[in-house]
Amino acid sequence: MPERRLAPSMMCFPTLGLDRVLADCAAAAVELLHIDVMDGRFVPNLMLGTNYVADLRQATDITLDLHLMIQEPGDKLDWFAAGGGDWVSVHAESTAHLQRTVERVRSLGGHPRVALNPATPLSALDWVLDDIDGILLMTVNPGYAGQALIPQTVAKIAQLKAQLVERGRADLDIEVDGNVSAPNAVAMAAAGASTFVLGTSAINLVKPLADQLRAFRAAIADA
Ligand code: DX5
Ligand code: ZN
Repeated sequence: MPERRLAPSMMCFPTLGLDRVLADCAAAAVELLHIDVMDGRFVPNLMLGTNYVADLRQATDITLDLHLMIQEPGDKLDWFAAGGGDWVSVHAESTAHLQRTVERVRSLGGHPRVALNPATPLSALDWVLDDIDGILLMTVNPGYAGQALIPQTVAKIAQLKAQLVERGRADLDIEVDGNVSAPNAVAMAAAGASTFVLGTSAINLVKPLADQLRAFRAAIADA
């Protein structure tokens, strides 16, 4: 059975009532909490900041999956106390010093990952592949929840998977973010994705969260 990890997108939940959200995530044994950090420059939106991340660390033992959509993230890792087992995705487009940045994440004890926007070629990964633990492929343009899938990104997942196999790095995790509904996730899993960011396309705020998470896991189990 291939590994499949769920990473609910925390920006999609109201900040009031987070205790219940965290309890449901634990009950459904989610592997990660996906945290969208946006600076209003790299992406045209401002989201989840330093206090939020610090509070979440106090409130849960679930691994944090920091998705840094900020300019020059390498200068700001300390702001988030990034390290200590966190997954930390930095965008290839956000820094002139990608290799230095992923090395810095590693030196802090984090799991470095590179995120790519939909139009960024996979070749951006070529010379950092041995320095990272995974790749986050954006399947929408980053910045907002609730956007439609950019269809060619599914072929991009498959191409990345094939390249990783060819380079003997099929162990690297492929994470997908943006319009990851259950039907889209089935196609993404078949293409090679193994970690799924669950936002508004996967979760609503009406039905019990733990049930929705379990149903999602079941939907992609055999994809
Ligand atoms: C997009 C964010 C996602 C978003 C995905 O920039 O990174 O985490 O919440 O959720 P939906 O399903 O709304 O696309
Ligand atoms: Zn994200």
